[in-house]
Amino acid sequence: MVNPSDSSGIRDPDVTIRRILKVNHAGEFGAVRIYGAQILMARRLFPDIVPALEEMREDEIDHCRLFREAMPARNAKPCRVMAFWSLGGSILGILTALGGRNMIWICTEAVESTVHRHLEDQLAFLAQRDPELRALIASIQEQELAHLRKAEDSQKRRGLSQALLLPVIGALTDLMIWFSTWGDSSWMRAEMARAGKE
Ligand SMILES: [Fe+2]
Ligand SMILES: [Fe+2]
Repeated sequence: MVNPSDSSGIRDPDVTIRRILKVNHAGEFGAVRIYGAQILMARRLFPDIVPALEEMREDEIDHCRLFREAMPARNAKPCRVMAFWSLGGSILGILTALGGRNMIWICTEAVESTVHRHLEDQLAFLAQRDPELRALIASIQEQELAHLRKAEDSQKRRGLSQALLLPVIGALTDLMIWFSTWGDSSWMRAEMARAGKE
């Protein structure tokens, strides 16, 4: 699906808004799966961090629902490849949990900071175009920031594995966002960055 643009090359903002909702909803769903897989593993391996993971998972379930509820009024529909997000999230959750508790927090930091960056772009884009959705995203972003801080504070060591894994998981998260928007996240980012400077 191509985002229609007029002769000046300006894209329809409604289409971008629908894609923002679609990718955010799918991303939250993926996050629910990451935390879900990590909780399953952590119950056996490091039960002391289960309550913190459960709390974050509850937030992600809430975010997922809020983005779903914002869809009908904007003619948006959930991503068609939700199974892909589900599988990707579960695999990432299992692999990082196998890597140890520090790896769980590195994964959380990488995912949450990538999400934070995407939300920043969206806030700038939506300021004039959809203040209601902007307010929703701003409140969700606060909770994502709390997840990011928790992940940073919980890391015992911030050594080589952190330096190596952070960009890899961040890039994987970016790639999933790119795939699920059929490559549109790239121009969305440019467009939103431009909107932020207007
Ligand atoms: Fe979330
Ligand atoms: Fe989060």
